[in-house]
Amino acid sequence: MNYAAITGWGMALPERIVTNDDLEQFVDTSDEWIQTRTGIRERRVAQPGERTSTFATKAGQHALAQAGLSPKDIDLIVLATCTPDRPFPATACTVQANLGIPAGAVAFDVAAACSGFVYGLQVVTSMLRAGVARNVLFIAADIFTHYINWQDRNTCVLFGDGAGAVVLQPSQEAYGQLSCVLGSAGEHEDLMAVEAGGTRLPTTPELLEEGRQYVYMQGREIFKYAVRDMAASSLQAVEQAGLQPSDIALVIPHQANLRIIEAIAKRLKMPRENIFVNLERYGNTSAASVPIALVEAVEQGRIKDGDHVLLTAFGGGLTWGSAVVRWGREGLIAR
Ligand code: UT7
Repeated sequence: MNYAAITGWGMALPERIVTNDDLEQFVDTSDEWIQTRTGIRERRVAQPGERTSTFATKAGQHALAQAGLSPKDIDLIVLATCTPDRPFPATACTVQANLGIPAGAVAFDVAAACSGFVYGLQVVTSMLRAGVARNVLFIAADIFTHYINWQDRNTCVLFGDGAGAVVLQPSQEAYGQLSCVLGSAGEHEDLMAVEAGGTRLPTTPELLEEGRQYVYMQGREIFKYAVRDMAASSLQAVEQAGLQPSDIALVIPHQANLRIIEAIAKRLKMPRENIFVNLERYGNTSAASVPIALVEAVEQGRIKDGDHVLLTAFGGGLTWGSAVVRWGREGLIAR
């Protein structure tokens, strides 16, 4: 059985920074509330004309360069997003065109909200290991602020935009995803959603007037499930990889709320320094949050070859997932 080593990585963010102080100017909130309840100080927000494919393409370019591959080498492009450029075609196809990846490569999107990177990693790893893909570009990108009502303090302080990408290639050595535990609970689909704009409630002037095109969320409920399901699936993924929590060099959690991350660390009995956090600068970037954190951790030298890294995420659906990844790129199988 081949493994799917991660051989390239990259990220892209909007340039525009919106701080907590900026938010205070137009919504009833405070820097003190946001920092104490979430840990977030600022976030990146896409500007008009910037779309999900803008950042997905840039992150993909960086990942290809890092892997030393050219667009013609790629035979599978998967994009995890819940904020595609358009309902269809898949934004992965737009990224294929932007990057000049030749026709014949396979491109499609995966929608699992904030769990998108862990879900998609399982999809691409499975396809690569099954031998139906060789050189894979896997991107997670969201412009979640597209669905934000900037007057709603329950949501507008939490989210930001961005993209992260990885390249995966077959390896004979045990690198890449070693284990993965995914789960969904559709019974809680209404805890977090965008109501209007799909086939259930096609957009009408009345719905727009009511603000039903924006995300709503029952934050407190989601908080409880997020801690429970990320912690439980993390422990299962570690066990499935034949490891102990103490074998994990670094945990890369979904960056939604520092209090959620600290509660998970406690359940995993992990020291705080083994948990990577960057949400103070980006907020919750939805599917992009895990790969952006992964890329920053690698660039800061927090992940070294041979390290076991635990990824864990949670989002609307509800969806959750955890995966153990072994970092390194030895033993690549020649094309
Ligand atoms: O990534 C997808 C998954 N999503 C998540 O993981 C989000 C999970 N949930 C959370 O992170 C937290 O529940 C929130 C950050 C969303 C909210 O924190 P909380 O500690 O659960 O606060 P709360 O919703 O219980 O609200 C407490 C109070 C309320 O006022 P009252 O009713 O106690 O008077 C809110 O109205 O805080 C108020 N509040 C705010 N005050 C100032 C809510 N948002 C704000 C705000 N600024 N932005």
